[in-house]
Amino acid sequence: MDEKINAILKEIAQYTAADDDALEDYRMRFISRKSVIGELFGEMKNVAPEDRKATGAKLNTVKNAAQDKFQALIDALEQQISGQAVHDVPDLTLPPPDATIGAIHPLTQVRNRIVNIFERMGFNTVDGPEVEDDWHNFTALNFPPNHPAREMQDTFFIEKDRAEDHSDIVLRTHTSSVQVRLMETQQPPIRAIMPGRVYRNEAISARAHCVFHQVEGLYIDRHVSFADLKQTLLHFAQELYGKETKIRLRPSYFPFTEPSAELDIYWGTATEADRRVTKGTGWLEIGGCGMVDPNVLENCGIDSQEFTGFAFGMGIERMAMIKYQIKDLRLFTENDVRFLKQFTAFN
Ligand code: DAH
Repeated sequence: MDEKINAILKEIAQYTAADDDALEDYRMRFISRKSVIGELFGEMKNVAPEDRKATGAKLNTVKNAAQDKFQALIDALEQQISGQAVHDVPDLTLPPPDATIGAIHPLTQVRNRIVNIFERMGFNTVDGPEVEDDWHNFTALNFPPNHPAREMQDTFFIEKDRAEDHSDIVLRTHTSSVQVRLMETQQPPIRAIMPGRVYRNEAISARAHCVFHQVEGLYIDRHVSFADLKQTLLHFAQELYGKETKIRLRPSYFPFTEPSAELDIYWGTATEADRRVTKGTGWLEIGGCGMVDPNVLENCGIDSQEFTGFAFGMGIERMAMIKYQIKDLRLFTENDVRFLKQFTAFN
């Protein structure tokens, strides 16, 4: 009996419980009614009567030792768990990790503003393909074959296939091609803007790029007049650049509009930089516009006797340069983080 008691005491002393399962094992082995200690109490009846008192006392000691150890194991386990919990809760007094937030690209910001202003005037936003055919980019827009007007825009032609002549496939030189697609599929009233990327075979400089962005506008209905065009552009310019903004329409030529005009925004000549950007005039050109030529309406299946409309096409880079006073449009595509970071605040 003594030997058994000593063995149990030793076992209890050495027991460790790393988790709840081990604790439960301990409880089953040393505390429960069917525990080894319980069994020894059951054997008391076999102990000689004169030894019973001493053995009973020893058994009680083991029982108490088992209880004490059980409590100690519980305490240790709890401490371990709460210790972990302390680790899991973030220390709210620490300074935050370096939370650098990105910026929306300035061109996207300007594009979003433009879309927003026109949507408030009831214009839908429409998309079109960047790889176009000659019909949508030129012919439907009243550029006759071999007409020198086609050379106003230095076109990228998609490489000719040997078996088949694909030379009429181009990278669109302007977003005006989307006007054609829209008119071909929709009858008036049409009121839409068409922002997108365009391509021209030009040398890259501070003022020109072979890839840039335009936003096209088209409004076709009964009785649309040049006055509507002018008021729409004035309202747009004042929403984008402020209530004091002045615009100017200069007579111009485009095959797809008659009459045609160039749209200038007054920028001023206060500083040397202003004079340089505006070539000394104070005025900055941002795009072209006009009344849609009846030939274009007819090419697209719209009755030019019944409907009239205006159209415009503006350069998004140009508008962003003015808005943020950016002097070199190459900055838009160089992805220099020092440049882009400056636009975080405008998001
Ligand atoms: N597509 C012309 C260009 O890229 C701009 C333009 C002028 C668009 C007059 C128009 C317009 O819709 O009516 O130079």
